[in-house]
Amino acid sequence: MSFLLMRVCVSLSTCFLISVSRSSHQGPHEQRLLDHLFFKGNYSKLVRPVANESEPVEVRFGIILQQLIDVDEKNQVVNTNIWMRLTWKAYNMVWDPTDFGNVTTIRVPVNMVWVPDILMYNSASEGFDATFPTNVVISHDGSHLWVPPGMFRSTCAIDITWFPFDDQKCDLKFGAWTHDGQYLNLTADNHEGGDTSDFIRNGEWELIDVPVRRNVLQYECCPEFYIDLTFTIHIRRRTLYYGFNIILPCVLISSLSLLLFILPPDAGEKISLGTTILLSLMVFLLLVAETMPPTSDAVPLIGIYFACIMIMCSVSVCLTVVVLNLHHRSPDTHHMPSWVKHFVCGWLAWILRMERPGGSVRRRVVMQRARLNDIKLESLDEKSRSLMANVLDIDDDIRMANGSPNIMMGKVEESHAAGSMNMRFDIVCILKEIRKITTKFRREEEENDVKNEWKFAAMVIDKACFIVCILFTFGSTFAIMFSAPHLFA
Ligand SMILES: *[C@@H]1O[C@H](CO)[C@@H](O)[C@H](O)[C@H]1NC(C)=O
Ligand SMILES: *[C@@H]1O[C@H](CO)[C@@H](O)[C@H](O)[C@H]1NC(C)=O
Ligand SMILES: *[C@@H]1O[C@H](CO)[C@@H](O)[C@H](O)[C@H]1NC(C)=O
Ligand SMILES: *[C@@H]1O[C@H](CO)[C@@H](O)[C@H](O)[C@H]1NC(C)=O
Repeated sequence: MSFLLMRVCVSLSTCFLISVSRSSHQGPHEQRLLDHLFFKGNYSKLVRPVANESEPVEVRFGIILQQLIDVDEKNQVVNTNIWMRLTWKAYNMVWDPTDFGNVTTIRVPVNMVWVPDILMYNSASEGFDATFPTNVVISHDGSHLWVPPGMFRSTCAIDITWFPFDDQKCDLKFGAWTHDGQYLNLTADNHEGGDTSDFIRNGEWELIDVPVRRNVLQYECCPEFYIDLTFTIHIRRRTLYYGFNIILPCVLISSLSLLLFILPPDAGEKISLGTTILLSLMVFLLLVAETMPPTSDAVPLIGIYFACIMIMCSVSVCLTVVVLNLHHRSPDTHHMPSWVKHFVCGWLAWILRMERPGGSVRRRVVMQRARLNDIKLESLDEKSRSLMANVLDIDDDIRMANGSPNIMMGKVEESHAAGSMNMRFDIVCILKEIRKITTKFRREEEENDVKNEWKFAAMVIDKACFIVCILFTFGSTFAIMFSAPHLFA
């Protein structure tokens, strides 16, 4: 019980102390002045402070931009820390300082005096008005100064066309909510625009300037005209972050895709390299897409760049398949059309200054050797035939007529003749085998030649693609970079 009493006592005494200290902040003169202004006089905060009702209150307005907290591209919202600065004059709030102990200014809570109902029109804050109700400073000549700070959240149409080399212009539109121009004459206190002397540098955005525009709008419905002040925050994105984290890796990956055409087909890694590059580009595209508002109004510059690079990579993979197909062709499965021989291996190779090692000389030698081989084989055929005939000790014609040496077996009677006959027969078989082997080798050599021709065609196409891709990659990179309005902020 006594404990409860003590607590009540303590709380009562603190209340008393607080009220004493509050009143003791103001001297006796100020107390008298407040009584004079607010309680003895006829002052009402509901009354617009003008001597003549047909004249407007002159309100001068400005903003002090403290910080750009965040630009939310996805929700098209800008968060700023701004101090509003309002000044106006009230005819019924004047006093003579000499009567009140030389007190020239007083500070009163904002809910005690008339204040213009200035609001941010394009606010996206939860409570709409984001300002903190600070005190109003009143001077003896009736002028009021009110600087309410606030964390403003305002809508801003963000144009991502040039992302990440973009400028944004975000409007902050201020105006009196209920007073039209007849009752409240709103003017900018600084015609240059907002005050940015205390601005804290933003890591992502460079502040260019904050111009102001005074709009006087007359709507069709009503004869009144409405005044608003529109401050435009002009900011430019600083590109270092995007340059390092998105553009540089993208350029590196796209130059990796050039290697696709240098990798020899026999390594068996061409396709997997191509698809890996395509996938990593996809990952980067997702990263970029996350920061963008999901809009179809415009494709950002970097999106166009990614699209170019991705199309190039996809085409590279397709071309790689074609090259691999050509590389692994053989005369068993494909006949080499003459246009491939002339267009690819001849004309295209000539343009690309490509030659098979040894070049045309070697080819001529190969051709000659092939022709020689043919001749040799023919002569060998003849020779072997005559050799066979010699060995068999018979006339070529007889052998030809009989067709096969087996039949001649019957004609022979003597045993030694039979022995030599066996030997001859063996030699015939051996010669036959040799002939078979020779033809096999010859065919293999021919096949190899055709295969190498296909491989050469694949190489030529590989190199052509390589050059086209180099031109495309560098061309698109430079085109995109130079079409940006500015590269570095
Ligand atoms: C306040 O109003 C009364 C009448 O309503 C008037 O007599 C008096 O002069 C006014 N005082 C001031 C300071 O205007
Ligand atoms: C109020 O102002 C209007 C226009 O400015 C003027 O015509 C009128 O005479 C003024 N009234 C008084 C009482 O001063
Ligand atoms: C007010 O200021 C005047 C002149 O500066 C001075 O003479 C007078 O003593 C001051 N009054 C008070 C109460 O300080
Ligand atoms: C509003 O204020 C401006 C600048 O002080 C002035 O030029 C203009 O005439 C005023 N408008 C009205 C309707 O009083």
